[in-house]
Amino acid sequence: MGTALVTGASAGLGRAFATELASRGHDLVLVARNRSRLEELSTELQREYAVTTEILTADLADRDQTERVAERLRDLERPVDLLVNNAGFGLRRSFSKGDLADEEHALAVMVRAVLVLSHAASGTMRARGRGAILNVSSMASFAVMGTYSAIKSWVTVFSEALSVELAGTGVTVTAVCPGFVRTEFHDRAKMNMSALPDQLWLETDQVVLEALRAVDAGAAVSVPSATYKAVAAALRVVPRGLTRRVSTQLAQRRRTTAP
Ligand SMILES: NC(=O)c1ccc[n+]([C@@H]2O[C@H](COP(=O)([O-])OP(=O)(O)OC[C@H]3O[C@@H](n4cnc5c(N)ncnc54)[C@H](OP(=O)(O)O)[C@@H]3O)[C@@H](O)[C@H]2O)c1
Repeated sequence: MGTALVTGASAGLGRAFATELASRGHDLVLVARNRSRLEELSTELQREYAVTTEILTADLADRDQTERVAERLRDLERPVDLLVNNAGFGLRRSFSKGDLADEEHALAVMVRAVLVLSHAASGTMRARGRGAILNVSSMASFAVMGTYSAIKSWVTVFSEALSVELAGTGVTVTAVCPGFVRTEFHDRAKMNMSALPDQLWLETDQVVLEALRAVDAGAAVSVPSATYKAVAAALRVVPRGLTRRVSTQLAQRRRTTAP
């Protein structure tokens, strides 16, 4: 079974990944900022599944705190078999009108931390000849939806590049690209999602099960659900200029209907 380290384990998808992995017998290293939520989860996982859990509180926007997590991943005496780079959040404001500090914060958590932790994990896993890295990207990585798309494009392409580099080493790398998932993500970003049709919402369990199936299969990219698989396939064949034109119209409509 081995040990899995999950970032952003205190809520949403990360919490669901940790719970599913514990139910499969994995010991867990739980990473996030909110210690009390991690303690509550840790107690629950130990009680329900009799697994060992460690709590590593870290703000992944902070390079030194991220390094403490990287050090845990480099520890060959307590090897981590699966790294789930999941911590992240949405960006609601426009780039040009928004605060640059928010953009840098997003890059630190969703790009730099993924880079640093993947470097630490892949080095150790390669030396052991086995292991897996799962990076939580997004359907936005195939679209043109603000700098969040750019950030998640990096996550998807980085995962593909690392999976190519590590082919044949026993280490796999997978990017999972979910559409809209019911978590705290949209509330935290103060996004009003009331107009989104029910059919477009995914549940965390569905995303987690499909993502872990992709990890087991050694797939480089996974898009959970038939609906979003079809959207992703369409976005791959539609000319990029058309994707940009539709994105421009949607952005203009949002501007004119914004309160
Ligand atoms: N929900 C969606 O519709 C959706 C769709 C596609 C992709 N995603 C991606 O899925 C991932 C998980 O998001 P979610 O939907 O589960 O959102 P969520 O419910 O808001 O959970 C986000 C998690 O990230 C952690 N986190 C945020 N900033 C952090 C930081 N600076 N340092 C450490 N941990 C941090 C939070 O923990 P603390 O607050 O305790 O630190 C929390 O555990 C993200 O990468 C997101 O981009 C979400």
